[in-house]
Amino acid sequence: MLRRRIRAAGALRDRAPGGRLRAMSIDDEYDLEALRAAGRVVRATLDAMRDAVGPGISTARLDAIAGEVMRVHGARSAPRLVYDFPGETCISVNDEIVHGIPSPARVLADGDLVKLDVTVEKDGFMADAAITCAVGRSSERARQLVACAESAFRRAMREVRPGRCVCDIGGAVEGEVLRRGFNVVRTLTGHGIGRTIHENPMVPNWYDPTARARLTEGLVITVEPIIAMGSGESYEADDGWTIRTLDGSLAAHFEHTLVVTKGAPLLLTAA
Ligand code: CO
Repeated sequence: MLRRRIRAAGALRDRAPGGRLRAMSIDDEYDLEALRAAGRVVRATLDAMRDAVGPGISTARLDAIAGEVMRVHGARSAPRLVYDFPGETCISVNDEIVHGIPSPARVLADGDLVKLDVTVEKDGFMADAAITCAVGRSSERARQLVACAESAFRRAMREVRPGRCVCDIGGAVEGEVLRRGFNVVRTLTGHGIGRTIHENPMVPNWYDPTARARLTEGLVITVEPIIAMGSGESYEADDGWTIRTLDGSLAAHFEHTLVVTKGAPLLLTAA
């Protein structure tokens, strides 16, 4: 029952046309360079959005900034392209966890937590990343939540190498999140990526003994802790897209697209 409700974050696996593909595996330099280029556009887009975040800006304005960066770089919004998402990016505020729809009516206020989730397509390749930004002065606890999503990501990086299982990533994320007094959102996962947004394998943010996919050299996946201050239970809002926390607590999200290598993972969406 639970598994049917789980979907890859960034969105909407169950809306994808056709079945899921196995994640792309990089085995040639051309593919790697093309994926790196997509990753650089994601980074540039997130940086431009982050620079504009502040009290008084609407999420539609942030989305317009994102769309312009993509256009200048010859890239397109992957959620719009693949799922017909009504925005260039997903922008989720406070108890909205993921897949928030940008809106001129949604104006950021001092103390908000805003999640910026950007996936682009460039020359047939896709990359995906997300950050959480505190708007103005936020509470100490909110800042701890943001820091926890990032530290859970870093902790998970130690598990990303050939031969390890996706369940090792989940175990590392969950351990770090619980240790810091927060909870993982279990209805959303990381995912394979490359030729489209959501490919196999799923990459849960908790220890799931049934998630047995092995990491192999060249595999392209996202790792994306999605966590909440409260229970971590979630529901889909009436707009048919936004996923929110059931208890109204704050959520945070941190994500990169990476390539599994023999050494440290290659982060395609990092600075
Ligand atoms: Co994602």
